[in-house]
Amino acid sequence: MTQNAGIIGMGHAYPSATLTNADLEKIVETSDEWITTRTGIKQRHKAADNEYTSQFGVLAARQALERAGLEPTDVELIVCATTTPDQIMPSTGAIIQAQLGASNAAGMDIFAACSGFLYGLTMVESMIRTGQIRHALVIGAEVLTKYVDYTDRSTCVIFGDGAGAAVLGPVPAEKGILATKIRSDGRYEEQLYAPGGGTKLGTSHKTIDDGLHFFKMKGNELFKVAVRSMAEISAEVIENAGYAVADIDLVVPHQANQRITDAVASRLGVPEEKVYSNIAEHGNTSSASIPIALDECIQTGKIKEGDLVLLTAFGGGATWGSTLIRF
Ligand code: COA
Repeated sequence: MTQNAGIIGMGHAYPSATLTNADLEKIVETSDEWITTRTGIKQRHKAADNEYTSQFGVLAARQALERAGLEPTDVELIVCATTTPDQIMPSTGAIIQAQLGASNAAGMDIFAACSGFLYGLTMVESMIRTGQIRHALVIGAEVLTKYVDYTDRSTCVIFGDGAGAAVLGPVPAEKGILATKIRSDGRYEEQLYAPGGGTKLGTSHKTIDDGLHFFKMKGNELFKVAVRSMAEISAEVIENAGYAVADIDLVVPHQANQRITDAVASRLGVPEEKVYSNIAEHGNTSSASIPIALDECIQTGKIKEGDLVLLTAFGGGATWGSTLIRF
C-alpha cells in the first residue's frame, strides 16, 4: 500500500508595487491595447530594489503552514522552484529554510523555469507516497523583473513577481495527486534564456554591457511549442489517472499568456468557464504562477473539496508538465 500525497495548505505573496500597462507605455514603445490583446496582461507586481525572491517565498510558506496547521519544524523538505534565486549559492530553498526555522528540513532549489512548481510537486509526491517523508513545502518564488531588460518591449511587458507555496502531506486514498508527469527538451534552449552570468560566458563588463544577464525570448516560436506540449501532456496525465477531460472541474494553467491558455483549453476541449486566469493582475510570474493561482482559487471557493483539478505548465528549457489533483 502506498500513501497518497496531497496539498494540505497553501499561501501566496507578492510585492505591493505594481507596474501597469500605462506605466510601460512611458518606458518602451508599446500600448495598453497591444499588451492586452496579445497577452491579456493589465498589470504585474514588481519588487522594489531591496526586495528579493526568498522574502516572498517565506511569506507564502508561512501562510501555507498556518493553513495546514503545521509548524515549520514539521516539514522535512523544502523545495523552492525558482529561476531567479537570491544568489547563486546557497540555494534559495536553504535560505527559506533558515528564515522559517524549519530545522528538520532539507532545503533545495529546482531550476525548471515556469514548470518548476510542477517539477517540485512531482518529486515530493513520490517521496511522500513511498514513505520517505511525511510533510514538505513546495514553493514557486520569483523576482523576474530584476532579469528583465526594460528596453526590450517583447519581454518587459510579460513578467511579474511573486511567490506561492503548498504544504504537501499524506491524504486519504482517492485524494491528492492522482497522476503527474514532467518533461523537457533542451534543444529549445534559445527560445527563452539568460545566457550571461554562468560558467559558459561568466560575468564581465562585456556580458553586462551586452545585456546577456537579461531574459531573451523568441515569443512567437515558444507560443506554438507551449500550446502543443501543454495540451499533449495534460491529455496524457488525465488518461493515466483513468479520467476523461469532461471529468475535470477546473484547469489551473501556468499564466504565460491569455492566448496560450485559451489555445490549450480549446485543444483539450475544456470550456472557458472551467479555466482559471489571473494573468490580467499578475502577468507571468513563472514558477510562482500556478501556486498563486491555485491559492486564489482555494481562498475564493472556486476549488471545493472533491474537485478534480488539472495543472499544466510550460517554460524555458523547454520544460513542461501536468498534474491532476483531487481536492
Ligand atoms: N508592444 C508593441 N509591439 C510589440 C511589443 C510590445 N510590447 N512586443 C512586440 N511587438 C511587435 C513586434 O516588434 C512585431 O512588430 P513587427 O511586426 O513590426 O516586427 C509585432 O509586435 C509582432 O510581434 P510577435 O512577436 O510576432 O507578436 P506575438 O503576437 O507573437 O506576441 C508575445 C508576442 C511575446 C506576446 C507572444 O509571442 C507570447 O506571449 N509568446 C509566449 C511568451 C511566453 O509565454 N513566455 C513565457 C514562457 S512560459
